[in-house]
Amino acid sequence: MCGIIGYVGGRRDAGFLVIEGLKNLEYRGYDSWGVAWKEGRKIAVCKETGKIGCVDAAKIAKEGNLAIAHTRWATHGGVTTENAHPHLSCNGSIAVVHNGIVENYEEIRRDLIAKGHRFLSETDTEVIPHLIEEEMKTTGDFAAAVRRACLKFEGRFAVLAMHAESGTLVAARTGSPLIVGVGDHEGYFIASDIPAFREHTSTVQYLDDGEMVVTDGRSILFSDLKTGAEREKREIEITWETAQVQKGKYAHFMLKEIMEQKDSIARAVNQDEGEIQTLAEAIRAAQGTFLSGCGTAAKACMAAEYFFSVIAGQHVNFAPASEFKLFHRFLKPQSLLIVVSQSGETADVLEAMKVAKSKGAKVLAIVNTEGSTIAREADYTLHINAGPERAVASTKALTGQMAVLMLIAYAMIGKLPKGRTRLLETAAAINDMLNPRYTSFIESLAEKIKDDKDLYIIGKSWNYPMALESAIKIQEVSYVHAEGFAGGELKHGPIALIEEGTPCIALVGNDEVRTDIINNAIELKARGGFIIGVAPERHAVFDEWIKVPDTDTAQAIVNIIPIQVLAYFLAVKRGKDPDMPRNLAKSVTVK
Ligand code: F6R
Repeated sequence: MCGIIGYVGGRRDAGFLVIEGLKNLEYRGYDSWGVAWKEGRKIAVCKETGKIGCVDAAKIAKEGNLAIAHTRWATHGGVTTENAHPHLSCNGSIAVVHNGIVENYEEIRRDLIAKGHRFLSETDTEVIPHLIEEEMKTTGDFAAAVRRACLKFEGRFAVLAMHAESGTLVAARTGSPLIVGVGDHEGYFIASDIPAFREHTSTVQYLDDGEMVVTDGRSILFSDLKTGAEREKREIEITWETAQVQKGKYAHFMLKEIMEQKDSIARAVNQDEGEIQTLAEAIRAAQGTFLSGCGTAAKACMAAEYFFSVIAGQHVNFAPASEFKLFHRFLKPQSLLIVVSQSGETADVLEAMKVAKSKGAKVLAIVNTEGSTIAREADYTLHINAGPERAVASTKALTGQMAVLMLIAYAMIGKLPKGRTRLLETAAAINDMLNPRYTSFIESLAEKIKDDKDLYIIGKSWNYPMALESAIKIQEVSYVHAEGFAGGELKHGPIALIEEGTPCIALVGNDEVRTDIINNAIELKARGGFIIGVAPERHAVFDEWIKVPDTDTAQAIVNIIPIQVLAYFLAVKRGKDPDMPRNLAKSVTVK
């Protein structure tokens, strides 16, 4: 969703700093961008629709020690320059960028118009600088005015406001993330995401929900948004390096992250044994264990339903986070909700946690992003340690999430070492598999099917959620119409879609359901389907065979990887940018 960065401090090139920082947030997905910087006692603004990539930041914002910038992912109002942030107050001395939604903005806007305020955009955001301006008439103090304004807004949001006259930067959050970067040189950054300022500092301070922060670049003050009471904040050192958020030798982050999986799976498996065992026991003791997440993370949850069933004989219930609240009747104080999220900021997941907590249930979070809201709000947290995931399409986070969930399933039957060994062997097998000959074979397959308009993927058992995941991956980066099915469901409808030459991918393992899924592939072939088998062993039904190592219970982790590679090459061959798919955002912080 929207990316936010602000800076105030000793450097005179604040505009340049925030535009360069914004470029590091491009991966979040956006359709327009803008920057505001202090020029003398005034605020200068530059806004554009489209991409920021080739903008020469030094030419836009030349001087000033205070600036804010924003990448917008349109919610309220179309993709236009007027709707892009920052938005200004009538007197031009307050600029605001914002992430989230001000739910009661229509009412506030009507009120402000009646008081003489002039609006230039269709956004909910524009009420913020105007209401701050209005509140300043009462308090005379910028920070107090921001506080008073924010308390009138409904919804989950993060606001970053700058004031030219006082030279201050104020941020407030009631949901969407905000992190302070303590500058190595004098000054402070405030951003929605660490990569925005990572090259300038590794020391951060997290804002919690319902907090506000005020800085003039020399000192910083955290407080409770409602009461104004001062809050102590710990400084935290982040461990990952700037190089981890760069593409290196790869053309795209997506390919880099796919290739990293041999290492990231091994890192995910490297968990504290005692902690995993405690959580396994908590699942055994729980009266109802639920799994929830969104999109790709939800597919990890679905795969885990099979891990828990087949490996541990344990019943767990999955629901997508956006549907979870409808099952609140089944939650008790003894229930456990396991949420899975790469970003740790997904609004629907936070909402599911809120529902579970309101019933007294405990929450275990499996996340990638350290310090994220989900990680901090859960009762127990496990990190998958995949390192920053920049491509919008999630790849290495998925396999890390599945690895951790599988490890817990093994721990539940007292076989944690066996689970660990299986997963480490899987990581090693992936290392062998992802060689240049293998990827160029998949590239040639992408060339063959790149102009087909439909693509179907089937799987059974844990390969069923992987069929759904394959479809997401292909849809989001290549825009080819792809759909995943449980193989057995084909003859209940979807098989009507198969025509002569329709590409169909079958995800196969050497397991108890192998014969079933092969039979489903045969049914597809009989209707003209062009069958691509992803399997440890060749079968006569396959027109093309993508060989994968036999990894037993970890087959789902291995089978999805060639499809990630295929999705990547389909995107590239169709002239799409796999790192920045249209209409999508990396971290979905609105419901
Ligand atoms: C697809 C994708 C999304 C995310 C979903 C949840 O490739 O990345 O479907 O998986 O938005 O995001 P997180 O895991 O950050 O909660």
